[in-house]
Amino acid sequence: MSKILHVSGLGKDYPLPTGKLSVFDGLDFELESGELVAIMGVSGVGKTTLLNLLGLLDSPTEGKILIGEEDLSTRTENQKAQIRNKMVGFIFQFYHLLPEFTSVENVSFPLMIRGIPKHEALTRAQAMLAEVGLQEKEMLRPGQLSGGEQQRVAIARALVSEPKLLLADEPTGNLDWKTGERILELIQTLHHKRELSSVLVTHNENVARFCQKTYLMESGKLILKN
Ligand SMILES: Nc1ncnc2c1ncn2[C@@H]1O[C@H](COP(=O)(O)OP(=O)(O)O)[C@@H](O)[C@H]1O
Ligand SMILES: [Mg+2]
Repeated sequence: MSKILHVSGLGKDYPLPTGKLSVFDGLDFELESGELVAIMGVSGVGKTTLLNLLGLLDSPTEGKILIGEEDLSTRTENQKAQIRNKMVGFIFQFYHLLPEFTSVENVSFPLMIRGIPKHEALTRAQAMLAEVGLQEKEMLRPGQLSGGEQQRVAIARALVSEPKLLLADEPTGNLDWKTGERILELIQTLHHKRELSSVLVTHNENVARFCQKTYLMESGKLILKN
């Protein structure tokens, strides 16, 4: 199997007024193409920091990240932004939808940013919304949707530009148990259907049911649990 992510010797420091905070120092991680893995761990251990580095939203203090064959340490910020737009879909705990816009507009934005004409972007966004079961709600704004529906819109937005890598940061953290289960089922279905490689940060104890591997993040390392 080929690897979509290859991370070695990863270190991340945050500057603090009193010195620096080292979140990890020498973290290694590999994701095979087609794998769906979960990362668990207590609050503050560095899960979001890791996803932001994997998704090229932030740069490591040291170490290497390869996405596919691309060594990102040799890329400019501009090139990294292009790779991110093409390769990575993100889902967040609090959805991060734009409140003034309808579902279909929210989902169409990643395509418009890539220069796809508005009419085509909206048509593709409609099809993607149907795939997450929201064809009836495409003209509603986030404030008119339930939490679970808002997360479905966010999933549609993450996947509409057909990324290879899906990164989800506590996607069920703001939802009741049952709605959370449905969202995990949807992510699992789309993962297989769209042949994604996916990393899911979660506190949901049942997540192992949905994933091939579960890691625990502890003291700046990832420990494989199953
Ligand atoms: N931008 C930042 N500046 C300084 N410290 C940060 C920043 N982001 C996160 N941290 C710190 O890094 C550590 C890991 O945070 P985070 O990755 O958000 O953890 P988790 O997602 O596992 O809860 C925490 O101690 C947090 O306070
Ligand atoms: Mg976090």
